[in-house]
Amino acid sequence: MDKKITVSAPGKLMVLGEHAVVYNRPCIVTAVDSRIRVTVEPRGDNLLVIDAPQLPNGHYKKPIDKLGSNKEKVPKEVAFVKKTVELLAQEKKLENGITVSTKSDFSHRYGFGSSSAVTVGTLKALCELYGLDWSKRKIFDLAYRVTLSIQGVGSGFDIAAGVYGGTLYFVTGGKRIEKIIDKPLPLVVGYSGTKADTPTLVRQVAELKEKQPNVVNEIFDTIQTLVEQGKNYIRKDDWVSLGDLFRINQGLLHSLGVSTPKLDDMCTQALVARAYGAKLSGAGGGDCMIALVLDKEKSAVEKAIESAGGEVIPATTSAEGVRVES
Ligand code: PMV
Repeated sequence: MDKKITVSAPGKLMVLGEHAVVYNRPCIVTAVDSRIRVTVEPRGDNLLVIDAPQLPNGHYKKPIDKLGSNKEKVPKEVAFVKKTVELLAQEKKLENGITVSTKSDFSHRYGFGSSSAVTVGTLKALCELYGLDWSKRKIFDLAYRVTLSIQGVGSGFDIAAGVYGGTLYFVTGGKRIEKIIDKPLPLVVGYSGTKADTPTLVRQVAELKEKQPNVVNEIFDTIQTLVEQGKNYIRKDDWVSLGDLFRINQGLLHSLGVSTPKLDDMCTQALVARAYGAKLSGAGGGDCMIALVLDKEKSAVEKAIESAGGEVIPATTSAEGVRVES
């Protein structure tokens, strides 16, 4: 076997419904055209080699049949590739070793979902390499198992964006995955300068829910209502009404304790500059916010986000899902 396969998978941005989606509610997620490229190549030996510039010697090496045998500490990206190969090897006997290399269009600092994109990309590349005709659903299911086994928590919305692309209506664990649209949303993305730790914030919300179950469940129900409503507004290009939902969702996320003064400020300044709506995107505690804004106000909103200390990140949404590049 002498072939080399490269695939690319998009990153993601949460549009509406974060946190509630961990508790069996829907969310809206969009794929972002900042992609991760994964190349796989068969080897003459039985090793899994992962090119990982974060490691002191630049790569990780282990026999494929020994991948699950200990709890070694490896960089996050290596852990996702390793687990993907390990779970695939339970479905299909891997005769040869493989080299996996990854390259990202975007900084890992932004919460664009590098781990999920790497997982989806690795799985798709291996399916191509071994001639496995897996459906999108099957790729989603296995990639989601990888995420759960490493992070312990997560709705899988990021995996769905990587596999299916576009802007999706998604329910926890992939109970529903529906394409809403394939064309970009009018969003500006601002990075708040600090990386968020998603599992910590998910646990923080779980603790609040434990203490205040009725109130938090009602907040989640309201988020569910606004996601359902948001789906219709997106279909109708009704950005003014979608903006209302962004503002309401931000208020609810703030009340759950996951916003930060910086994110609040970036959102407020975007609204002052006439964005239709603005909210944090993802787990909160830092990371990115998104503002809904038409072209004519775009540069004013970008300046406003920068004046609040944010960094504007170019991002095209509703990107294509995982695809074979060569
Ligand atoms: O921080 P991000 O961009 O990975 O988003 C997390 C979104 C949560 O709803 C908080 C968790 C999840 O897996 O859905």
